[in-house]
Amino acid sequence: MHNKRTIIVSNRLPVRIERSNGELLVIPSEGGLATGLGSIYKEDGNIWVGWPGFVPENENEKIEVTEKLKSLNLIPVFLTECELEGYYEGFSNEVLWPIFHYHPSYAVYDEWYWNTYESVNKKFADIVMEQEIADTDEVWVHDYQLMLLPKLIRASNSRISIGYFQHIPFPPDELFRGIPWRDELLKGLLGADLIAFHTYNDTQHFLNACTHILGLPIQNNCLRSGGRSVYVEVFPMGIDYDKFNEMAHSPDIQRRAQEIRTYYNNRKFILSIDRLDYSKGIIERLRAFEALLKTYPEFQNEVILYMLVVPSRDTVPKYKELHDEINRMVGQINAVYGNNEWTPISYFYNSYDIKELSALYVASDICLVTSLRDGMNLVCKEFIASKEVENGVLILSEMAGASKELIGPLLVNPHSTQQICEALRTAINMPEEEQRKRLNDSLEIVKKFNIRHWVRLFFKRLKEIKSIQQEERARRINPEILQKFLTKYSESKKCLFFLDYDGTLIGFNNNASEATPTNDLYEVLEDLQSNPNNQIVIISGRPHDTLSDWFANKQYYLVAEHGAWSNYPEFVWHTKTHISTRWKYPIKHVMTKFTNMTAGSVVEEKNYSLAWHYRKVQSGLGNLRAQELVDHLRYLLPHHGLQLLMGNKVIEVKNSELNKGRAAMEIVNDFKPDFIFAIGDDATDEDMFLELPADSITVKVGSRKSAARYYIETQEEVLKLIKKFAQPTYHTVD
Ligand code: UDP
Ligand code: G6P
Repeated sequence: MHNKRTIIVSNRLPVRIERSNGELLVIPSEGGLATGLGSIYKEDGNIWVGWPGFVPENENEKIEVTEKLKSLNLIPVFLTECELEGYYEGFSNEVLWPIFHYHPSYAVYDEWYWNTYESVNKKFADIVMEQEIADTDEVWVHDYQLMLLPKLIRASNSRISIGYFQHIPFPPDELFRGIPWRDELLKGLLGADLIAFHTYNDTQHFLNACTHILGLPIQNNCLRSGGRSVYVEVFPMGIDYDKFNEMAHSPDIQRRAQEIRTYYNNRKFILSIDRLDYSKGIIERLRAFEALLKTYPEFQNEVILYMLVVPSRDTVPKYKELHDEINRMVGQINAVYGNNEWTPISYFYNSYDIKELSALYVASDICLVTSLRDGMNLVCKEFIASKEVENGVLILSEMAGASKELIGPLLVNPHSTQQICEALRTAINMPEEEQRKRLNDSLEIVKKFNIRHWVRLFFKRLKEIKSIQQEERARRINPEILQKFLTKYSESKKCLFFLDYDGTLIGFNNNASEATPTNDLYEVLEDLQSNPNNQIVIISGRPHDTLSDWFANKQYYLVAEHGAWSNYPEFVWHTKTHISTRWKYPIKHVMTKFTNMTAGSVVEEKNYSLAWHYRKVQSGLGNLRAQELVDHLRYLLPHHGLQLLMGNKVIEVKNSELNKGRAAMEIVNDFKPDFIFAIGDDATDEDMFLELPADSITVKVGSRKSAARYYIETQEEVLKLIKKFAQPTYHTVD
């Protein structure tokens, strides 16, 4: 029996291999992801696939490393220098990183980078597939280096659960649009079932990219892609709270923290820790610190900026430039303000083990985070988790994901030197009780939303999504379901077909008057009606004269304006004359006002309804105005007994006595069919699906959320489906 496993995949493994005196050592990796998940992945036979941070010199080294990592449940993906240059330094860190951190001018659009990114993603996918993946396994892909992986894995297993988490921000769609390979990147991610980000803004940017760039259909946070529902969610990542909290309390760390304080003569200790990265606002921080010393000379000799910068990506040119600039600025500030007793900035270009970090967190009075953009920023959460007893102040950039989650930090705009400088002054002077209060507010959040909670929530949601997808699949018309329909149909004598027109028999057109029936449609309908057992009813929101023009002299019944007009049973039009239309004046007044301020929108007046169409309005604006219009109309509706329908790019107001459900039932009650088939795509068709007898075959086009018992994916499939009934001799399914 194969137990359910989780396969984590990320660019870096939580450990890296280092060559030292002819020996290969296993060392923990830096970075939020490695520290975050490193402590929990091994449970239940799970595995982690990733790059071991090392290029082997020969086959023997590969074998040795593979063996060493196997005992840690780690599977290495070996990359050559050339692959690293194109995929990691190039595409990941010179295209995606700058764009996703709002630095488009740093992006280098090199075709070779892209090709290598593609081929390395394939390499990762191959290694994942070699792990004998079962349908019940869950694959969890991490971060921007592997955006193509979900699609590649999906291609070899359509049922498996795939989650993707992005640890860095997702940029606004107009910024993302600039990437020449943007479509491939989005489609790559859409192979997943659950795509998650740290903040609400990131999810909205991603959803906008999918709808504006790929034109995907969307319902709230659910996208429809490749016949699957893909969910986009917010899951702010937590840290291993217990670990940091326990370390902070341990006598060893307390002793070390005291040593640090003493070494710096108990001066106010401002701590900053980050990888070397232009997204971290290190230059901005130095400028603000210099401003503090200059503006408030009383702090000279009194404060220390302890700045730990962890070496990172130093083969990428922009990182090298940054490194030089930091060296220059630190040197200058220390030279100008320092003296024999005091060096204002203690700067280290190094990486420390977690115990030393913990001692720094405990020892510090202020933690200063000035990221210009940061997916989350775990350093600030680690600082909070280390401060259950000692006091301290967190100054946090409002551009870091953590600022959306934590309550209590002093928030700053990192581009404002003055704001950071003032925040530093406030923090230095902050009374103990206020420090404690602010820390406690944040502590509660960091403690509750810890890394385990994050992992649990993620997998719980992934599981729910899989069962939603399963239910959807059961309602989607497949050959087996179709065969059941046809069997029932062949046993019936009086078959009634309710067919909606727009979005069902014909696709939407920017000009409604151009959505005329095609020859193919006429042929299919003729074939269907030619069977004496069959009766077609075209049931539409269109005006009756339009339906007359299109279907004159046909033996179909026509229902127009959602039931206001019908030609049943004599093929002669008649209407519901008792219905008042006095309400039209005030409603039309409001709709016209919206038409006058929204280019591309029109009001359509029918006998018993008014429709505001916004298909030609620029996307986004149309939806916004539609919402506003609904808000305006809402209070008018109850006075007049009206119903508002939110259709596909149309808002329609009609008398609530009129609906397709009632109209259809009037025919059913009189005609007495023994087989009913109804198909439609819009909100107005829901009334029909709800009211028709329970044994009717009701089919929704293009959406799963419906009162209909079945659905098909697209309008293009509708005629193919109807053809199956139109050619009764072919009672077979392909
Ligand atoms: N870190 C580390 N060694 C160091 C300095 C930092 O392992 O010498 C860890 C730190 O504890 C934190 C992570 O690196 O967990 C940095 O994560 P963050 O989200 O703040 O930034 P990222 O590097 O992911 O951009
Ligand atoms: C950030 C990214 C991670 C990455 C880490 C370290 O946290 O989100 O995906 O692993 O930085 O960067 P590096 O380039 O050294 O792997």
